[in-house]
Amino acid sequence: MGQHLTVVDHPLVQHKLTLMRKADTSTASFRQLLREISLLLAYEVTRDLELTTLRIDTPMQPMDAPILEGKKLALVSILRAGNGLLDGILELIPAARVGFVGMYRDPETLQPVEYYSKLPNLLEERMTIVVDPMLATGNSSVAAIDLVKKKGAKNIIFLCLLAAPEGVARMKEAHPDVPVVTAALDECLNDHGYIVPGLGDAGDRIFGTK
Ligand code: URA
Repeated sequence: MGQHLTVVDHPLVQHKLTLMRKADTSTASFRQLLREISLLLAYEVTRDLELTTLRIDTPMQPMDAPILEGKKLALVSILRAGNGLLDGILELIPAARVGFVGMYRDPETLQPVEYYSKLPNLLEERMTIVVDPMLATGNSSVAAIDLVKKKGAKNIIFLCLLAAPEGVARMKEAHPDVPVVTAALDECLNDHGYIVPGLGDAGDRIFGTK
């Protein structure tokens, strides 16, 4: 992850994202697509994980085989929409440690208000992937990363589905050391802090609320 922003332009990711954006996509389909796209994004975001070797016996002979090095990854979901991304990633990385940060956006100020946090231990020794589908103003993402850094995390990646230029700029200013990985960089935010063209309210679309 050399650069600050990576857009995952894989055709499968782009195709699934288009289906998710459509206003008439059902909750069930939206969830299924999010699960599938999470697997593809997780593949991309873990590309630079360090490997070591383990001496094993195949049925044929012993060999030194590659295996992930170091402590288990930490995934930190920003509630509640982050959980939609989290589920798919956990299928690919079932041994990951999982933390949650509860933030809601004050509709007046658009500032994040923290109401819950529970994070894995030894974050300083883990790669930490903070997940939230929408990087909009960047306020809650920046606040969540402030929190994981306070808990010791050093090697952090932020993973989202859609990013607005405003959010990317805010993240770069506050956390230039944290690469942002997204499936698309959209045009801008509207007056309510929603990404356009976007996909609407990710939490509502995942959980079928309004
Ligand atoms: N959160 C969402 O769910 N959607 C947006 O467009 C912006 C923030």
